[in-house]
Amino acid sequence: MAAYHVVMVHFPIALWLVAGLAIFIRAVSDGAVGQTFDRALPTLLVAGVVFGALAWVLGLNVWPWSTLSSTPMGRNHMLLASWSLAYFALLTVLRLRHGTVIWQGLNRLVMVGLAGVGVIFVGITGTLGGHLVGNYTEVGQVLRLLGWEIYSTFYVPNLTIGVIVVVSVVMVVLALLGRNAAQKAG
Ligand code: HEM
Repeated sequence: MAAYHVVMVHFPIALWLVAGLAIFIRAVSDGAVGQTFDRALPTLLVAGVVFGALAWVLGLNVWPWSTLSSTPMGRNHMLLASWSLAYFALLTVLRLRHGTVIWQGLNRLVMVGLAGVGVIFVGITGTLGGHLVGNYTEVGQVLRLLGWEIYSTFYVPNLTIGVIVVVSVVMVVLALLGRNAAQKAG
């Protein structure tokens, strides 16, 4: 399955990164360029989730479960792959369910925030996948500097928990502000 996984991962990585870029461009541009990127967004997101889910399932079948689950790097890669898929599935549901409302008021900041985190997760997923096959990058060093020892530990550092809590609170506040602004406008 390794060869299939390696081929398949290129699709979600490319689609999710372009979707993140499209979300950023639409968030800063109401003009023709922004509208064009927004029209492409549902296709990018749906295709990304479909190929991402396939890569995820194939990934689980590359190594025996006992091998995968007993290596910190394998578990970390699995964790980040799952988070990436979950983030982009969420963005897909938001875009399909709420349409262009997601660009109104502060909603666009929520979209940029979610897409930004999703893109970072995809970057780390790919980085850890590369480490699994011996293609190392400096991103591993950056994660180490941030307190995440990707080779020997499997835990969420306190700093990361703090960041998750802060980001969660900021997102809830943005959502409430956005809803109030939308209610006043409507
Ligand atoms: C639960 C889900 C996943 C598991 C268990 C998993 C597992 C693995 C394993 C075991 C390898 C090493 C392959 C080998 O030995 O040849 C690998 C490589 C890799 N994986 Fe995953 N994977 C998962 C999901 C994903 C996803 C969703 C992506 C991308 C969005 C991804 C990106 C990569 C990359 C870029 C490599 C390195 C390929 C290379 O440089 O040759 N993986 N993965």
